[in-house]
Amino acid sequence: MDNLVIEGGVPLHGTIRVSGAKNAALPILSAALLTDGACTFRNVPKLRDIDTMAALLRFMGCETDVAAPVVQVRAGSMRRAEAPYELVKQMRASVLALGPLVARHGRAKVSLPGGCAIGARPIDQHLKGLEAMGATIRLEHGYVHAECARLRGATIHLDMATVTGTENLMMAAALAKGHTQLIGAAREPEVEELGRVLNKMGARVDGAGTDVIHIEGVDTLHPVDHAIIPDRIEAGTFMVAAAAAGGDVLVEGVVPEHVDPTSAKMRAAGVEVTREEGGMRVRSPGGRALRAVDITTAPHPGFPTDMQAQFMALMTLAQGASVVTESVFENRFMHVPELNRMGANIEVRGRVAIVNGVDGLSSAAVMATDLRASACLVIAGLVATGQTEVLRVYHLDRGYEAIEAKLAPLGARIRRVRAAT
Ligand code: EPZ
Repeated sequence: MDNLVIEGGVPLHGTIRVSGAKNAALPILSAALLTDGACTFRNVPKLRDIDTMAALLRFMGCETDVAAPVVQVRAGSMRRAEAPYELVKQMRASVLALGPLVARHGRAKVSLPGGCAIGARPIDQHLKGLEAMGATIRLEHGYVHAECARLRGATIHLDMATVTGTENLMMAAALAKGHTQLIGAAREPEVEELGRVLNKMGARVDGAGTDVIHIEGVDTLHPVDHAIIPDRIEAGTFMVAAAAAGGDVLVEGVVPEHVDPTSAKMRAAGVEVTREEGGMRVRSPGGRALRAVDITTAPHPGFPTDMQAQFMALMTLAQGASVVTESVFENRFMHVPELNRMGANIEVRGRVAIVNGVDGLSSAAVMATDLRASACLVIAGLVATGQTEVLRVYHLDRGYEAIEAKLAPLGARIRRVRAAT
């Protein structure tokens, strides 16, 4: 078990490179189940979640070769259409195997992902969509059992713009007989990217990235060689870190449009955010000189819920009070008590947090509870006076590739230590 030790109060300067997107890589690795041939994926981030997805594919009998940033998957040897609880409990995105397994092999046994730190997170929309395509679904002993000789196209109205729900149903519909419409689909860049990969495999997906996706099913799909898009949440995290600590940082490799919602709010707070050849430049006088800004999280192109905690850390020092409304998940303020332990002044009322800007944060030992909450505490540690210790960074390692090694060249005093046993 590792912790991160951070000496705060140092402005950041230089260039930091963004890795491939975790939330694009996970569905894309799962899409390899739709063909027997060898798929090659490039720019894959070196993360614990990628290892878990590879372990899941191997459990099913696939051959995998994980040498991030290159990952190869050969699903031809797959013999077990199952995602066991042991793996699903480590990573709920394992549920992304459901659609491809039913579509390609006519059956799937996938553990129901339980609740998680940020919310109940049911998968009813995933199951509703598969049933609409003709699958029979049984829930037994904590598992979803889905069966269908051949899925058929259907018109599916999603009750909410679920990201992995949209992705699961896109993959299922790619090999279904006939035409599928996903109405109310998620528009995240990662969904659009999955549409690109499926089409490169021979699928007929139209409208990925919009709220209505059309899929004309085909009989077979072929292998693909594809480089994954950059991680907009990792990029946003680095942009906000630079804004909070102050300094001048180029975040390299990010697609500017993908971080528009975050950039807009940073500019409203008084941060200079500009597009530059190869990335986004952030120039900031530091958190205390910034204005309080209200945010409400929403599906893309709204403000990303995966940036809420990090942006809240920025607002802890802003002039005035900012209202942070979390509309996507019902329990995503677990970072607030830890920020208050560092001297922040935040009140939570249900899904709304009122962040009253303070003069400074003081260092403390803080505990991460989930991936983005951990990133928020790293940012707080970069601005706090003294030495902050962020415990349980295994959460962080799920979604950030060697964050301390990336931040240190910017001048951040951050290092990884083995936790005392
Ligand atoms: C994806 O999760 C991301 N994970 C999450 O990122 C991200 O926070 C989330 O989308 C929202 O942007 C991956 O892509 C692997 P949803 P997902 O289905 O697909 C409700 C991170 O930090 N809902 O879009 O699980 C649900 O409870 C992670 O990298 C249902 O009610 O999220 C939530 O309130 C955390 N029924 C809302 O919809 C369903 O069947 C949005 O969830 C599906 C979802």
